Amino acid sequence: MSETITLLGLESSCDDTAAAVVRLSEERGEILSSVVAGQTELHAEFGGVVPEIAARAHVEKIDLCVETALEQAGLGLKNLDGIAVTAGPGLIGGVLAGVMCAKGLSAATGLPLLGVNHLAGHALTPRLTDGLGFPYLMLLVSGGHCQFLIAHAPDRFTRLGGTIDDAPGEAFDKTAKLLGLPQPGGPAVEAAAGNGDSKRFAFPRPLLDRPGCDMSFSGLKTALLRARDHVVAEKGGLTVQDRADLCAGFQAAVADVLAEKARRAIADYLGHAPTVPVLAVAGGVAANATIRGALERVCDRAGLGFVAPPLALCTDNAAMIAWAGIERFRLGLFDGLDLVARPRWPLDVSQPALVGSGKKGAKA
Ligand code: KG4
Ligand code: ZN
Repeated sequence: MSETITLLGLESSCDDTAAAVVRLSEERGEILSSVVAGQTELHAEFGGVVPEIAARAHVEKIDLCVETALEQAGLGLKNLDGIAVTAGPGLIGGVLAGVMCAKGLSAATGLPLLGVNHLAGHALTPRLTDGLGFPYLMLLVSGGHCQFLIAHAPDRFTRLGGTIDDAPGEAFDKTAKLLGLPQPGGPAVEAAAGNGDSKRFAFPRPLLDRPGCDMSFSGLKTALLRARDHVVAEKGGLTVQDRADLCAGFQAAVADVLAEKARRAIADYLGHAPTVPVLAVAGGVAANATIRGALERVCDRAGLGFVAPPLALCTDNAAMIAWAGIERFRLGLFDGLDLVARPRWPLDVSQPALVGSGKKGAKA
């Protein structure tokens, strides 16, 4: 008979406090509950996540999230097999809040503790949602992350490339801010771009002239600022059409960069002769229809499958942490009460660290 494992997962590495219960049975993962308490309104007036405010809010909300997740799953602590928690990378105060809560639960119940890498949580989600086998190619593209990874095993990843500065979601958010559109910027920019001419402004496609899969998005934001200022200087302000054209041009540039870098990542990945030729995506930016369409076309051309988990599991959540914990549980990768919270924790330690740290903490 196959193993049944039920874990509680905790996530608090950025601006979402989350708890979830996930069960593995008959070789399939099932989400019994998934609770996410966001903090958008707490940070709204500051134009970005304030680490101290985030950490305090996590401490205040995490117990309630755990209680709610257990209640919705119809389980008590005694029905669990272990506690999984994001132990990094992220804003350290928030990561500590989750790790301390998980340690308390583990010490009080005797349940085993599993420290999970947040990026591994995102990267292993397609195994929970679509039962993907290893290896597969993964693009993490969110407000805090942007990297191409080959997932070989729950604890083994090769990073093919990543952003050397901003993550695309950050660039979408800053673009919205520069154009007076609401936050989070991605959906607002996408909606405005729907009525825009993507060819009116010639935005750069950064780093396409360099080999490899590394990306850069901060120059694009500067180009947008210049184009905006040029229009304002000429006409004394921005019309709705100007805004739409700027958004469309910006979005097309991000989509082109991600598509071309995906093409290169796929070529590299196919060189490993994978049995599962699939590109999977995760992260809030994967919700963008233009970007998703561009990635799907690249996959089609290369004969690859394209997997995009449902949006609620693409963005930060604790079900992905519980699932990654289950994967570690099966491998016997348990942690003790000496588990350390880490601000940085690259998935692929054989690669040089990605430089920079965005508004949502370290990139890796
Ligand atoms: O994965 P996520 O919820 O949080 C982390 O960053 O970890 O991603 C949020 C990011 C935000 O920057 C948001 O603007 C962006 O994803 N986003 C989008 C869209 N929806 C959300 N970007 C472009 N187009 C969208 N439709
Ligand atoms: Zn994330």
